[in-house]
Amino acid sequence: MDINQVLKDASKEIGLANSQADIQNLKVSYLGKKGKITELLKSLKDLSLEEKKTIGAQINSLRDSVDSLIKGKLLKIKKDEINSKLLNESIDISFPPPSSIDAKVHPISKTFDEVISIFGSMGYAVAEGPDIETDFYNFSALNIPEDHPAREMQDTFYIEDKDEENKPFVLRTHTSPVQIRTMLSQEPPIKIIAPGRTYRCDSDATHSPMFHQVEGLFISENANMSDLKGTLIEFCKQFFEVQDLKVRFRPSYFPFTEPSAEMDIAYHVKNNSLHIGEGDKWLEILGCGMVNPVVLENCKIDNSIYQGFAFGMGLDRITMLKHGLTDIRSFFNANLNWINQNGFGLGDY
Ligand code: PHE
Repeated sequence: MDINQVLKDASKEIGLANSQADIQNLKVSYLGKKGKITELLKSLKDLSLEEKKTIGAQINSLRDSVDSLIKGKLLKIKKDEINSKLLNESIDISFPPPSSIDAKVHPISKTFDEVISIFGSMGYAVAEGPDIETDFYNFSALNIPEDHPAREMQDTFYIEDKDEENKPFVLRTHTSPVQIRTMLSQEPPIKIIAPGRTYRCDSDATHSPMFHQVEGLFISENANMSDLKGTLIEFCKQFFEVQDLKVRFRPSYFPFTEPSAEMDIAYHVKNNSLHIGEGDKWLEILGCGMVNPVVLENCKIDNSIYQGFAFGMGLDRITMLKHGLTDIRSFFNANLNWINQNGFGLGDY
C-alpha cells in the first residue's frame, strides 16, 4: 500500500468529516485495531530488517500525522458545535414577546405600578426600607413610646434577635418607618412614597398577616392640610378612574401625625356589585395627617422652619375595591386559575 496515498486519502476524508461521529469512524478505520495504518504496521513483519527500519519510520510518521489531523479536526468540530449552539441560543431583547404569552401580572403588582405612576406624575420619588425593622424606626422615632397604648393598635410580630438597643427586631407593622429612614438620610424638601410589605398578627377575609401599604411623606416649608387633601383626592380619582368622587375626612388619631384624619370614599351597591364614588355608604381607605413636630425633631429636622404631611394606605384594600374582590386571602393562595382570571395581561398596560 502506498503510504503517501494513505495520507492523501486520510486528509481528504478528515477534511470532509463534519461531525464527531464522522471523526470517530475515521479514527477506527485508520488507527483502530483493524484500521488501515494498523494493518500497515502489522505487514512490517514480512519485511527485511533494513526495510522494517525505513518503512517502519515512514508508517509511524504517517500514523502521527493522521492522529494529529484527526485531533485537530475534532477540536474544530467541537468549537463549531458550541458556536452554532450559542448562535441559536442568542436572545434578541428588542424583540416583542409573543402575543400568546400566558403570564399574568398579579393585581397587587398592578396596583403597585399604578400607585407609583400616579404619585410619580405628582413628583414623588420611591423610597424603600427593610421588612425587618428595629423598635426605633417602627415605633419610638414615630412617637410611639414603650407601654404607649398605641402599640396595642398594631399586633406586632416580634423576632427573637435583639437590636443594638437590646430590643427585639419586629416585622414592620406599617410603612411609616420609611418616613424616619428618609428624614434621617435626606435634607428637606422631601417628597417620597414608600410602597411595600407590612405585617400584623391578624387573619380573616379582610386581614392578612402579610399585607401591603404605601406611605407618603411631603416635607417643605409650607406643606399643609389642604395640599394633603388635594393630593389624596386626586390620587383616588385617578386610581379608581372616577371623576366625581365623593370623599370625607374624619378626625382620627396617630401618634406620628397631628392633626390626624382618616379618609373615606363613598360607595353604593347595585345589582350585587360595588360602585365607588357615589352613594350613602363609606369605606375607610387611609390614615393621614400633618407630621407631628416631635417626629421632625426625632429626625433632626428643624420644626420651626419645616412642616409636612404624611399618609398611609392599604394597597390590598384599594385593589379589592377597584376590582370587586372580596377575600384578601385569595391574593396569597398562589392559585394559578385565580391569577389567570384576575391577573392582568400586556394589553392592560
Ligand atoms: N401608619 C398608619 C397605619 O398603618 C397610617 C398612617 C401613615 C397614618 C401616615 C398617618 C400618617 O395605620
